[in-house]
Amino acid sequence: MEINLPYLMAENPISKVDFSQRVLDWFDLYGRKNLPWQKSVSPYRTWVSEIMLQQTQVSTVIPYFDKFMQRFPTVCDLANAPIDDVLHHWSGLGYYARARNLHKTAQQVCTEMAGEFPTDPVELESLPGIGRSTAGAIASLSMNLRAPILDGNVKRVLARFAAIDGWPGKAQVLSQLWELAENYTPDQRVAEYTQAMMDLGATLCTRSKPQCNACPLSDACLAYVQNDWQRYPGKKPKKTLPVRTAHWLVLSNEQGEVLLHQRPPTGIWGGLWSFPELPEDQSVDAFCRDQFGLEVSLGEKLPVRRHTFSHFHLDIHPQQLLLRKRGCVVFEANDLVWYNTHRPDARGLAAPVARLLDELT
Ligand code: ADE
Repeated sequence: MEINLPYLMAENPISKVDFSQRVLDWFDLYGRKNLPWQKSVSPYRTWVSEIMLQQTQVSTVIPYFDKFMQRFPTVCDLANAPIDDVLHHWSGLGYYARARNLHKTAQQVCTEMAGEFPTDPVELESLPGIGRSTAGAIASLSMNLRAPILDGNVKRVLARFAAIDGWPGKAQVLSQLWELAENYTPDQRVAEYTQAMMDLGATLCTRSKPQCNACPLSDACLAYVQNDWQRYPGKKPKKTLPVRTAHWLVLSNEQGEVLLHQRPPTGIWGGLWSFPELPEDQSVDAFCRDQFGLEVSLGEKLPVRRHTFSHFHLDIHPQQLLLRKRGCVVFEANDLVWYNTHRPDARGLAAPVARLLDELT
């Protein structure tokens, strides 16, 4: 097969065989060998563990995996179980689409494939919830087939090793990483090599503070040689978000209570309690008189703070207000409350509101 990796061949001074040999030698000494899914290995057990591990840490997964296997020892036990039972055993792991796909795939494997997982990674990838890397992991870890993987850990190892610039979410970066993964996957001991690459990424070649001095690849790692590991893999480009402004009215009464308002059910912080917000086109005086029946004068302006949502930044300008008349009361309204900051109750507060209340006390 022709290999089209100029960046790899020209610059990393070790061969493909040397690469996997070093990784395997390291694995023999330091790799993880006693994880529950490494015992009684089967495609079914590997598949379940890989799906559980997709967004979740090993230490969290272990007890779930053990209970899941007790309840659903085979793919047909899983296929024949009610979905509610599957979800119950997933409860706490999050990302429940994974459990639904798991159930669907179990049904396909049990009924259409006589309970046997396909051995072709391309066929594995056609099953619900199984992407290219998970297909590679199942084929290599449980069948010892030469199939590459490229999960987050392996992306990091390879991006650093070959100094691949750019964010792996971009197709062109991803395809270079797959080419590397494909290239370095050995013909022998594929299962151990796959586990080794995951372990290398998880334990040495970590996102921050990699332990390059313990890494079997460091002398050939371009990121290490360039002393620039932080550059790889490239980060997701940050969108420039629009900035909106909110003016919060911080109004305290003589008891030291603070006026809070319940936000409408839709929109940001729907239904949560917040400081009253001054509309753009209104004066503080008129707003407080109309809305709350209160006469106020301006107090201290508090420092501006920024809260970032997925689609915009909100710059919050809190303005303290003083009550001008003693004994003023708020109009009756159940979306307003004088909130006692010393005896907080169980209402839902937006995070920046809770922080500002903390500052005030
Ligand atoms: N993360 C994904 N797959 C894994 C595995 N087989 N062992 C440890 N962590 C993993």
